Amino acid sequence: MAENLSIATNLSKEEKYKTLIPQIKALVHSENDLIANMANICSVLYFGMNFFWSGFYLVKKNELVLGPFQGPVACTRIRYGKGVCGTAWKNKKTLIVPDVNKFSNHIACSSESKSEIVLCGIKNNTVQFVLDIDSNKLNDFDAIDAKYLKEIIEKII
Ligand code: SME
Repeated sequence: MAENLSIATNLSKEEKYKTLIPQIKALVHSENDLIANMANICSVLYFGMNFFWSGFYLVKKNELVLGPFQGPVACTRIRYGKGVCGTAWKNKKTLIVPDVNKFSNHIACSSESKSEIVLCGIKNNTVQFVLDIDSNKLNDFDAIDAKYLKEIIEKII
């Protein structure tokens, strides 16, 4: 199993994802514990992509509960339909928010967070968890992030 992440600098966002995804695959392929795999994925995304915050919220009963993450401390529980995470869960769809201050429903865990992407881990047509990534730059997420982060989620769902 890989122990050290190989992080190349001066790459485009897409090239970074392409470098990191095989490393994620190597980390998760022989491990079936969801929490362990989520923990390593957060670390790879945080250090490899330089995100401000990367983490998972798991669906438990009728709310999202904080799971493995990297970055500043975050709120622990999010209700269905609340915040960017709860809205993505409700809609069962990836949600990109270019400016969190313009998203009325946003839950601010840190005032430094400026833009956000949330993807759903869906199994049997039910959301099991969400992957939440925050950036301290406005408009930092696009279809490239959505594509590669979805690919990452598919390795553990
Ligand atoms: N901003 C999220 C809450 C989680 S933190 O960003 C880590 C939301 O609105 O759902």
